[in-house]
Amino acid sequence: MASDLTPQQQVAHALADGVARIQAAASSDDLKAVLAGLTGKKGSFVAIRSSLGKVADIEERKALGQLVNEAMAELDVATQARAKALRAGEFATQIEADRVDLTELAMSARASRRRGRMHLVTQATERLEDVFIGLGFQIAEGPEVETDFYNFEALNMPPSHPARSMWDTLFIESDVEGSVVLRTHTSPVQIRVMQEWPPPIYAVMPGRVFRKETPDATHMPVFHQIEGLVIDRGITFADLAGTIESFTKAFFGPGFTSRLRPSYFPFTEPSAEFDIRRPDGSWIELGGCGMVHPHVLRAGGLDPNEWSGFAFGFGIDRMAKERHGVEDLRDMYSDDVRFTEQFS
Ligand code: DAH
Repeated sequence: MASDLTPQQQVAHALADGVARIQAAASSDDLKAVLAGLTGKKGSFVAIRSSLGKVADIEERKALGQLVNEAMAELDVATQARAKALRAGEFATQIEADRVDLTELAMSARASRRRGRMHLVTQATERLEDVFIGLGFQIAEGPEVETDFYNFEALNMPPSHPARSMWDTLFIESDVEGSVVLRTHTSPVQIRVMQEWPPPIYAVMPGRVFRKETPDATHMPVFHQIEGLVIDRGITFADLAGTIESFTKAFFGPGFTSRLRPSYFPFTEPSAEFDIRRPDGSWIELGGCGMVHPHVLRAGGLDPNEWSGFAFGFGIDRMAKERHGVEDLRDMYSDDVRFTEQFS
């Protein structure tokens, strides 16, 4: 510090120099360094303060001390102002650097857009409906919680009929014990359709069914069936066989054929099971069918002397499983999109 300057001049000088350096700081880090230089051990203000001790006059010393304090306060104000300006600039730079190009983002989102997929059983059900609509059928639905009457009795199974044990039934608590069930098959919808629709009837009835079953690779307590019902004048077993065959070819392809094997169901007489033959000669069991029993026609409000018909019913889940080569039915109900995504 030039010795020919008065202490007041030295303070003013140091202050002007400090403010200039503060204002010239190019970044927050730079500002920190400038401050260290001004107020640190080797800073000009430290030198000034220590020289205060040499001033003999107390009043003058006080006044000088005051002056130094004021200069320090001014430096502080200048520092705050510069720090604020630097922060604002740095923030703006940071924002700019972090800016995301939304058009780019939108484009990459479009490129990788993931579309949802329907469940395999839903896909199979819709295809089945399409094929049957193509064959002239209408779609009907019935309740999943069903009365004993529709699930059994109207289907020619009076109370304690032995054939009831063909279905492991889940019961719903009700005032009359055993009178309300989770439907064990879609056959009760046959009765509801006969009661509601005037014949002739050509209907298929898809839906969920329930059985007291422990889940394993080929069984689920909740699964899906599709029921078919045709009621018209002069319907014969040949119509049934022909419809099953037309359906097989339409749904599975021209290389597939069907066959009927004698069987028993209380609601049809005669009854059959039907299988389809793959092009490689192997057979898959699909479901049951038969001519609608006169008792069933009557329960549906139809006169067996005027109307006759056939019915069929088969499982949808197993068909979806077959079609897509799913090894374990439980995978179809794992609710894991990674499973569903494998099938389009
Ligand atoms: N309801 C039967 C079942 O769940 C399947 C069935 C068999 C349906 C014969 C029918 C039929 O309509 O005629 O096992």
